[in-house]
Order: sequence, then structure tokens, then C-alpha cells
Amino acid sequence: MALYLPVLYGTTREGRVSIHVAQYAVQRLARRPGVETRLFDPRDLPLGNLVLRQWERRPPVPAIEEFSAEMSRADGFLIVTPEYNYGMPGALKNMIDHLYKEWNRKPFAFVGAGGLSGGLRAIDQLRQVVSGIGAITVPTHLAVHQVAKAFGPEGPLSAADEFPVKFDRLFDELEWYARALKSPREAVDAAAGRATGQR
Ligand SMILES: Cc1cc2nc3c(=O)[nH]c(=O)nc-3n(C[C@H](O)[C@H](O)[C@H](O)COP(=O)(O)O)c2cc1C
Repeated sequence: MALYLPVLYGTTREGRVSIHVAQYAVQRLARRPGVETRLFDPRDLPLGNLVLRQWERRPPVPAIEEFSAEMSRADGFLIVTPEYNYGMPGALKNMIDHLYKEWNRKPFAFVGAGGLSGGLRAIDQLRQVVSGIGAITVPTHLAVHQVAKAFGPEGPLSAADEFPVKFDRLFDELEWYARALKSPREAVDAAAGRATGQR
């Protein structure tokens, strides 16, 4: 069973360091057999601060329609996000709020990046948000503490942190939930007469 597991990245900030974590995650996830992935960066999406949700826009905006279609066909998501002032960045919440059905009945796994906290408080908030979009969260998560010292453009800066093993463990779990939910979700969507995740 092939799976599509996009990576959603959390911030548009100039000089963002956590992008190195997101890029590492997407490259490592892409190497797994039977998994397709792609990085979704809020900088590349013409969303603006939420005024109208995707299905309310007239005329539809092609790049947002494509974002919706990609999220619809996804089987689960990895979110990689920094923590700002004890929470998730606004850009990430904005990206989530523009869609709804696309997320339903799908698993979300989290990688946090921060200073001392490793993004744990942003992850805790995301667990609440995900329950509000009809989705579920993978129980474990990965916290990257002191991200500027832990990751560079080429990936982890020290083998001692064992990030390859930690990422693979998280991916194993995300895959498990994605596989477990795929067929039942598609059956419900078929019974409702819609393509998976579509309104
Ligand atoms: C506006 C702002 C607020 C921040 N708040 C926190 C915080 O609450 N907890 C934390 O561990 N790090 C915090 N940081 C530090 C970030 O975790 C740090 O910038 C890290 O590099 C990841 O964010 P980045 O991808 O934007 O660089 C904050 C950074 C910014 C820019």
C-alpha cells in the first residue's frame, strides 16, 4: 500500500533555522519504500491571513486549489515547526485553518524545534488543534532542542544526537497509523460519495 505523507513546515520567518530540520525530514521520509512526500512551506502558498477558506474563495485561487488537492490525497502528515513564545507560529495555524475536510480522519506526527523547550509547547498546542480538525495525533513526537546547535543545512551536526534513529522511529509510527486508517477512511468517503478528503 503506497502512502503519501506530506511534510508541513511551520514558519515564514527570515533566517529561520528549523527549515534545516524540515528539509532533513522530507529527504529521509522520501527514502522509505512505498512513501511519497513533499515539503509544504507557507512561504510558497499565497494564503495571506485568513479571510476566506479555500472552498469559500471566488474565483478559486489555483495555488490554493492545488494545496487542497494535495492535502486531500494525503494519508497523513508530518509537521515540522519551531516554537514562538510558547506556541506554534501563526503561519502554521493559518495554513491549517484554510482547509478542513482535507485533514479529517488522518494522522499527524510532530517534530518541534526550539531553544531549551525543543518546541514541546508548540506540539502540545498542535495536539489540541488537530482534534479540532477531525484528525488524530501520533502519540510520540520528536523535540529538537537548541536547534541552531543541532542542525545545519546538511542535516544533524553531531552523530551523538542519533537523529536518524529518532526520525525513523517517528516515521514508523506515522506510517503505522496512516496504513491503519487509509482503507476505513476511503470506505467512509466512498459511502458518502466523495473522493477521499473532498467536500
Ligand atoms: C518570535 C520568537 C519567539 C520564540 N519563542 C521561543 C519559545 O517560546 N521557546 C523556544 O524554545 N524558543 C523560542 N524561540 C527561539 C526559536 O526556537 C529559535 O529561533 C529557533 O531557531 C527555531 O526557530 P526558527 O526556525 O524561526 O529559527 C523564539 C524565536 C522567535 C523568533
